[in-house]
Amino acid sequence: MTEACTLIIFGATGNLAQLKLLPALYHLEVAGLLPAGLRIVCSGRSQYSQDAWSVRVREILSRHARDPLSTTHCDAFDRRMHYFRGDLSQPDTFRQLAELLSEPGYPDNQVFYISLPPSTYSALIESLQARGMLVEESAWRRVVIEKPFGSSLHSAQALHAQISRYLREDQTYRIDHYMGKAMVQNILVSRFANLMLEPLWNRNYIDHVQITRTEQLGVANRAGFYEGTGALRDMLQSHLMQLMALIAMEPPVSMDADDLRDEKVKVLKSIRPIETAKVPDHAFRAQYGPGRVDGAAVPGYREEPGVAADSATETYAALKLYIDNWRWRDVPFYLRTGKRMAEARTLLAICFKQPPKHFFRSAQMHRPPPNWLIMSIAPEESLRLEISVKQPGLEMKTRQISLDAPFRCEHHERADAYEGLLLDVFEGDRALFLRYDEVEWAWRIVDPVLQAWADEAGPIPSHPAGEWEPEAVKRLFDRPQQRWRHRLEPA
Ligand code: BG6
Repeated sequence: MTEACTLIIFGATGNLAQLKLLPALYHLEVAGLLPAGLRIVCSGRSQYSQDAWSVRVREILSRHARDPLSTTHCDAFDRRMHYFRGDLSQPDTFRQLAELLSEPGYPDNQVFYISLPPSTYSALIESLQARGMLVEESAWRRVVIEKPFGSSLHSAQALHAQISRYLREDQTYRIDHYMGKAMVQNILVSRFANLMLEPLWNRNYIDHVQITRTEQLGVANRAGFYEGTGALRDMLQSHLMQLMALIAMEPPVSMDADDLRDEKVKVLKSIRPIETAKVPDHAFRAQYGPGRVDGAAVPGYREEPGVAADSATETYAALKLYIDNWRWRDVPFYLRTGKRMAEARTLLAICFKQPPKHFFRSAQMHRPPPNWLIMSIAPEESLRLEISVKQPGLEMKTRQISLDAPFRCEHHERADAYEGLLLDVFEGDRALFLRYDEVEWAWRIVDPVLQAWADEAGPIPSHPAGEWEPEAVKRLFDRPQQRWRHRLEPA
């Protein structure tokens, strides 16, 4: 049974807590999965009485919970909650917090969830340490940190050096919410619970792999964060690189945290470094301009509130990577992500090689298209396999058909990625959290690109909001037949 604990959310009045953390905790309350005795301390700078905070939380939940609110569960959730007002730059705040946490009713095991900008991590952890709040004597202490962990290889190393003085690796939970998505975990299950794919899963049969996450949303109210971050750091260095590691890794010895993460690190370490002179062959960036999304006019990135009129921050990034190991050498992995694109999709598309001989050469003009295996993570959760078959009729002509299987039906239970990940934190299971070396290797891969882009003068390519990326991205493809697979069905 999961031990009772106290969860302290720093930044409880912020975006992530409202959109994800509080709804996820409430859903776990409804499912009866929260540890018995769990208390939740919501820390923020705004002034709220306990009553006003309860009202605020109910408002948040009524907007973001999956189902209509249940009074019984809301009341139970409310009883766990305490609002703590404090300015985290003041040492006295931590004295008051320590006092609160030592009151009866607050379990000694503590999870500190830092839902604040990364620039605050180090000072906050230092303040917790100074009050002795990270010391594990009779109870455990865990700290959850959101991405991005640093903004470059150098800053990630510096941050790690600072926080590892006070926190052991096994107390540190670096969250990447993609690892909590059921469909992402399905990559592992599809690969390792079936024998069928394994013989094909290598350079002998696979032509290339595409990993796509495109969004229709713009930067919304996050320009302050996004301006200094951009698509490569925000999505590609973390989420997409994790997806790539899961697709490419060897079967782990077990699903234990370190066995799984060892295999992911091996993939990241094997990625061929991108030389500065070759950045244009491997990386492409763009920014969305004014356009239309679902029929409505939307501003360009540079017109968004809080964005500089001459901003060179990329809202679209694509990379071509090679994994120099026996399984994958010379198979290109194309990764791309963008905001304000034509459609919102998360797809993993595996394109197989053509058969060595064009068997029906005399009978038809065109080569049949290659086989594709596509895992759609969003919006559909499904698997699609495309194969060529004979067309009905007397002529020997081929056509492509597909086997489509949804991973989820209407009656299947739904859960947000944060629900599973929060439970893992309470249970002390770190398998789905990133170990520091994974983060560092991912920065090693993107660092040369970030540096080359920072040195490039002049405007960056743009595309109208609501449309796919500029054609010029094609320069990344190794062969003319390769092109982006935008959706489940072929174009
Ligand atoms: C976050 C990024 O990590 O992931 C956001 O900071 C992005 O910019 C989001 O919108 C996308 O997550 P998902 O689960 O919708 O693919």
